[in-house]
Amino acid sequence: MFISIGENMIVGFIGFGEVSSVLSNILSKNGIRTVTVVKGRSNKTQELAVKSDVQILDSYETLIKGSDIVISANSPANALKVAEKYADLMEDNIYIDLNNISPDTTIKIADLFEKDHPVIEEESKHSIFSNTDEPDLRNPFVDGAIIGKVSSEPSLILFSGSKAEDLAILNNYGLNVIIVSKIPGDVSTLKTLRSLYTKGVSAVLMETFEVAKSLDLESQLFEILSMTEGEDFELKARSRINNSYKNYRRKAEEMDEILNFLINVFPNKNFIMTKASSQKFHLVKK
Ligand SMILES: NC(=O)c1ccc[n+]([C@@H]2O[C@H](COP(=O)([O-])OP(=O)(O)OC[C@H]3O[C@@H](n4cnc5c(N)ncnc54)[C@H](OP(=O)(O)O)[C@@H]3O)[C@@H](O)[C@H]2O)c1
Repeated sequence: MFISIGENMIVGFIGFGEVSSVLSNILSKNGIRTVTVVKGRSNKTQELAVKSDVQILDSYETLIKGSDIVISANSPANALKVAEKYADLMEDNIYIDLNNISPDTTIKIADLFEKDHPVIEEESKHSIFSNTDEPDLRNPFVDGAIIGKVSSEPSLILFSGSKAEDLAILNNYGLNVIIVSKIPGDVSTLKTLRSLYTKGVSAVLMETFEVAKSLDLESQLFEILSMTEGEDFELKARSRINNSYKNYRRKAEEMDEILNFLINVFPNKNFIMTKASSQKFHLVKK
């Protein structure tokens, strides 16, 4: 297949929910042809595709063979299964995974794409496990992450992988992308560490303001913290605190996943802050 990453490129979406429709609409507005498949999907997905400028195809085989860039944006639980189904159909095109998946799952997916693209050296794979910076230069898999909500303007997308640099051109077509490295796994690890930080801050905020509220000092505390943390501190902190109470169950599960990942990679380190943040979210229900 002749690959064209530029104005004549075709971008194919596996899954057409919020992420794909937002990205597809941005690319279409900027002159890029986008395609998807909705056969067998829910009414919501079918309606979203019909309302968008995306071209609807009959099969994933046609989508993969005809797209210069394939984007997998379906669900964390399905990301690996989707990649297993379609990896063998890939030729020289690029496959980006934008699902919220762990670094472990990302590495498993990256490996699937190496099957028909033999590794240059057995050791030269991914940074977290092999500590090498010599990735397989022929692997078409790109590890991607949307930072924040896709609908927030402008949403930032990070990429890492052998072919990630080719994707910098997406900045010319309405997207806001940053190329992190040539190594798949780097972006999902960064996303995990970012999540560890933001959820840790949320846990500290929840506890601090629970105490302040019970002592009737909440507004005074917001006021004095705003003096050093910035004028928008109260707005941001309240939004974080409300969101944390609302989604405590999901956040507790995500912290547990992060903790498992850290322990796997660094079995001798004691992650006391991560454990405490995880407990803070687990305790909300009590
Ligand atoms: N929304 C965000 O701001 C955001 C930010 C960062 C990361 N993400 C990640 O991006 C991914 C997509 O999120 P989203 O918000 O777009 O989700 P969504 O609105 O729920 O859409 C998911 C889409 O994928 C389809 N789908 C599910 N399984 C599929 C499969 N096996 N094959 C083909 N299509 C499949 C769904 O079809 P049905 O309707 O038929 O189920 C739906 O069209 C998720 O992994 C999420 O974690 C989202």
